Amino acid sequence: MAHVIAIDGPAASGKSSTARAVAEALGFAHLDSGALYRGVTLVALEHGATPGAPLDANAILLEAERRGLSLLYDGTGFSVYLGGEPADEAIRSAPVTGMVSAVSAVPEIREWVNERLRALPGAGQPVVVDGRDIGTVVFPDATLKVFLTASPRTRAARRLTQRGQAVGDAELAQETSLLAARDAADSGRPVAPLRMAEDAVPLDGTALTFAEQVAEIVDLARARMTRPG
Ligand code: CDP
Repeated sequence: MAHVIAIDGPAASGKSSTARAVAEALGFAHLDSGALYRGVTLVALEHGATPGAPLDANAILLEAERRGLSLLYDGTGFSVYLGGEPADEAIRSAPVTGMVSAVSAVPEIREWVNERLRALPGAGQPVVVDGRDIGTVVFPDATLKVFLTASPRTRAARRLTQRGQAVGDAELAQETSLLAARDAADSGRPVAPLRMAEDAVPLDGTALTFAEQVAEIVDLARARMTRPG
């Protein structure tokens, strides 16, 4: 199996952008596991799933396969495609964000996603993977595991800025509570909850610049890869 750098952490901790930059620095491919959960959620919503109602995992996964939901390499990382088109924008919509925690709590859906994630380093492609359970469940033997956090306010401010929204007190309070609800759902679920692997390196990015955060992980990864034995 090729090298795997696992970056886990709560919503809006900067995992995906950090993972992409780390991958670029190391010459690895970036793999955003949350994007695939979002892709399945988009299929579920388009297939008639409604928040709060029971989910038919088999029907959703059959539909996902029928519509060719997949990860395709774009030169730096893997992007989600649906029906032969990139789905980056559609998978970040508010309805998808509102339902993704419920969809990703279903064990059959997690197995389907995990199988696709494991296939890539399994075929020899070194990757930087970000998510919630990458170091604990998907790649327990990863070369390096990082648990990336930042204070809830910092995360909320980053998410608002990323969307081009104002960062006022009211917006910050609302975004902080949406993130807190998703963190609680992701940490409290019985299957593959968000938690730090015992052998992960904790990294609090609250006081770090983006470049410092990336450099720290790249250094850790290089040190692990050159370690004898
Ligand atoms: O919004 P953010 O970028 O932080 O989240 P994401 O990485 O796009 O993941 C969206 C959702 O997918 C999370 O809130 C989790 O419910 C779920 N997820 C998961 O359960 N396991 C993963 N490895 C990755 C994401």
